Formats: sequence, C-alpha cells, structure tokens
Amino acid sequence: MSGRGPCLRRSSFEPEGALAVSVSIVRTVADLREVVGEWRALGLKVGVVPTMGALHEGHLSLVRAAFKRADRVIVTLFVNPTQFDNATDLGAYPRTEETDAAKLASVKADVLFAPDVSEMYPSGFATSISVRGVSEGLCGTYRPGHFDGVATVVAKLLLQTTADLAFFGEKDFQQLQVVRRLVRDLDIHTEIVGCPTIREPDGLAMSSRNIRLTADQRQVAPHLAEVLFSAAEKLAIGERAQRVLATSREALLSAGFERVEYLELRSADGLLPLETASEPARLLAAAWLGGVRLIDNVSVGVCAGSASTGRADDADG
Ligand code: PAJ
Repeated sequence: MSGRGPCLRRSSFEPEGALAVSVSIVRTVADLREVVGEWRALGLKVGVVPTMGALHEGHLSLVRAAFKRADRVIVTLFVNPTQFDNATDLGAYPRTEETDAAKLASVKADVLFAPDVSEMYPSGFATSISVRGVSEGLCGTYRPGHFDGVATVVAKLLLQTTADLAFFGEKDFQQLQVVRRLVRDLDIHTEIVGCPTIREPDGLAMSSRNIRLTADQRQVAPHLAEVLFSAAEKLAIGERAQRVLATSREALLSAGFERVEYLELRSADGLLPLETASEPARLLAAAWLGGVRLIDNVSVGVCAGSASTGRADDADG
C-alpha cells in the first residue's frame, strides 16, 4: 500500500483463505493532511465516514456507499465528549478500536483517523458551532447541547479531512439535517450524502447501544420499528397525526417500553411539525428500555393520492 503517506500503524485482518488486508491508523491532523495531500496530488476523490466506533453493519454500509462515489475512504473514530449530555453515558460508550480496525480492513477502508481528545480539543479550545432550527425539538429538547457538540466536531472533521463527500446515516435523521444545514451555512465544500438505515432481521435499527440491552429488552426493542412502520402506513393514507401518534405511543408502552420521549411527525426537509403527511415527511421517535435510549425514524409518503410508506427506508438524498 504505497503512496498513503505516514501510515503510523496498521491493523490486519485475515479472513480464512484470503490475503491479509489492513487499514492505516492515523492519530494526528498533521499526518492526516499529509496522506490526503498525496491523494489530492493524484487527483483522487476523497470520502469520509464520521463515527464514534463500536462499528456494526450500519457503519460498514456507509463505507460501502462511500466507495461507490469516492476513490479513497477515511473512517473517523472519535468518541466526542462534547456531544454527550452526561458523564455516565460517555463512560459507558463502547470502545473497541481493535475490532473496529479489523472490520474496516475487511471493507478496505483506506485510513482510520482516530485522534485522542487532546488532538481534537487542545488546551484553550474555545469554539462552538450552534445550528438553530433543525436542531430544536426532538433529540434537541432531551439532549441539551448535543447538536452543538455534533456540529462542532463534524465541522472539524470535514475541515481536517477536506473530504469531497461525507456519508451519514438516516438512522440519526435529525443529525443528518443539522449537518446539511451546517455545510450550507458555513460554505463547507463537502457534499453530504444520506444513507438508509440498516436493520436487524427483526427490524431493530442497528445501533452501538443495542449491545447494552438485556435478552428480555432485546425482545421488546423491535416493537419500536414495527410501531413506526405501521403508523407510517396510516399517516400515508391521510389519517391525522394526533390520533395515530396517541395510539402508537400506547402500543409502545404496552410492548414494554418504559418511556416514550418523543414520537412526532415532521417534514422531511426542515423538520417542521406536521398534522398530516401533506408533504414528504418523517416519523421520528425516542424511547427508553431499561437504561437504554433507542431512537428510530421512518419516511412517510405524501398522503394525497399516491401514498407510500417508506417501508424500504428510501434514502432522502
Ligand atoms: P455514530 O453513532 O457512531 O454513527 C456514525 C454514523 O453511522 C452516523 O452517520 C449514523 O447515522 C450512522 N449509523 C448508525 N447506525 C446506523 C444504521 N443502523 N444504519 C445506517 N447508518 C447508521 O453519529 C455519530 O456517531 C456521531 O454523532 C458523529 C456524526 C460521528 C459525530 O461525533
């Protein structure tokens, strides 16, 4: 793997009967710039997939999507302290860099950029980016400061990598809208690509937090997606949100969720509250199961005439 600049460490992964493959691990912004500079000199297109690690198929699907559009793919791994609203959640966040690197090697990612906290937030760091509008309500209400942390770290990652394209999952639909607004408002020259949510066979959206569910909670968890898809069908044929959402909330509680933080119908573009699916819409929810907060969302087709429910989790862009 020549021409990749300062490959500080490589992680190898050797599937049976296959040649060993590896991913270069880069820790500093200076080294990252050197690698990307070499790619640029060759006229290559660069994609980035920002993550906090504990990688699963959802993350890997973003890497595969990135390779469809870019010549080189950087995956970033940084558990960003500024987007956690409590220290317990930050402390409990899984950290599995070695297995993450092996998974990235198997999908042939070029670089794993895994800086430490002092590289990202050196002493004296004083800047915060706040995106208004789309960051308000939904997760923004229940996780104060969360989207400021996300916007700031994503802006840094896009500027550090100078990526042509950045790939984000619709799993975190509000985050995707915040990032789209951020790059538009700050004239960041990176195209944001939204990718569909990857689900377990029983419908549960893949998440790094799912491993914290007990066996019993894991049985209850898929009801979140089931309830969302079934509500989306009703909304797509013109039923009013107020009624559908009240019934769905009850369904979640009787399935075993302890608390439904929010369950809302919003416009797909701009995330404005809707009473009917009169324009392309998204149904979004957050609910608690034990100490685990699950979020999910599905698309809702326009109700007038040609209704569709987004059961295939169509990408919105
Ligand atoms: P993380 O939760 O690790 O997610 C990284 C990316 O993977 C996000 O774009 C997320 O939407 C996507 N993703 C997660 N689960 C998915 C699934 N089941 N299907 C498809 N995509 C999925 O989101 C973050 O990290 C952070 O907030 C970050 C953007 C990295 C900033 O710190």
